[in-house]
Amino acid sequence: MKILGIESSCDETAAAIVEDGHKVMSSVISSQVELHAGYGGVIPELAAREHLKNINPIVTEALLRAELTLDAIDAIAVTSNPGLIPALLVGNAYAKGLAAARNLPIIGINHFLAHIYGAFIEHPELIQDTANFPLLALVVSGGHTAIVLIPEDGKARIVGSTLDDAAGEALDKAAKILYLGYPGGPVIDKLSKNANEKAFNFPRSLTGAAGKPVAEEHVFDFSFSGVKTSLLNTVNKTNITDDILPDVVASFQAAVMDVLVSKAIHAAKHFRTPLIALCGGVACNSSLREKLSREESKCHKAIALAPPKYCTDNAAMVGSAGYYRLLASPPDDLSLNAIPGLALT
Ligand code: KG4
Ligand code: ZN
Repeated sequence: MKILGIESSCDETAAAIVEDGHKVMSSVISSQVELHAGYGGVIPELAAREHLKNINPIVTEALLRAELTLDAIDAIAVTSNPGLIPALLVGNAYAKGLAAARNLPIIGINHFLAHIYGAFIEHPELIQDTANFPLLALVVSGGHTAIVLIPEDGKARIVGSTLDDAAGEALDKAAKILYLGYPGGPVIDKLSKNANEKAFNFPRSLTGAAGKPVAEEHVFDFSFSGVKTSLLNTVNKTNITDDILPDVVASFQAAVMDVLVSKAIHAAKHFRTPLIALCGGVACNSSLREKLSREESKCHKAIALAPPKYCTDNAAMVGSAGYYRLLASPPDDLSLNAIPGLALT
């Protein structure tokens, strides 16, 4: 089954054609990073206008690269929640128009869950093996940070999430404080290589590391606003020369990544899951990938790292999620709506 996936929830317009959930025939992404860089974040109205300009050429390009016409497409999967509403509306209106014109089934996809399927595109055997359930996914992006438990019936449950900033948001804000540009994650990743991540001691919030016990209801939750404030305080009282900048950045990055890894491992042990999937834009981070991979043999948990090209926003993960959604339940209809909030379906 060939599914056309469409993504427009934030600042990437993307289209992909995915066969049977894992064979990516094409994946085209138009990034608006440069457009928003000057603002230090994504401006929803600007994003929507850019999506509108790009969506048809991007879908056409995806078909061209797959050497297919629309006649070969069996269904359309589109990110319908969560995201920036003006941006989501463009992809949804386009997908619904195409579905109506071509009489194709349409499937509304949760962007957050789509990220999880990104971890299995190149290893579908992991998601098809019932022994790997319940699956545990650490979803770390610019908008969300959560630990998700997925039992065999596919009914995902968030067991922990951030109480304030998402991990990617914290990295982006840290980069802003240090004048490193937007998005901050990739720059921080690069600057941290070969730097000393123990040079500065930033707090590991909600881990009990500071001697303060974590309330039972927050053991799998995250908080990244404290580490950001701590960075700001360090910057205000330290002369950040070019020499020490990489150490500051690496220490900040380590504080964020250590918390992510320790909470994911703790949750995997607690819920007795055999596998941990790492996905979302921050899953590109080389230190996070290394730290989590190191736990594979220590904790006897299989680790599924989303390939970097399917970590940041893309439509292949949407096409893949659409396939599994269609196997499990009927498609949506043209009453499908874009929803800004996180409704896990
Ligand atoms: O999943 P994504 O593309 O968009 C959202 O759904 O939010 O994630 C974007 C986030 C940004 O915060 C960006 O700084 C972060 O992913 N990111 C990284 C890296 N590449 C992207 N964070 C850390 N290290 C990276 N290499
Ligand atoms: Zn995303």
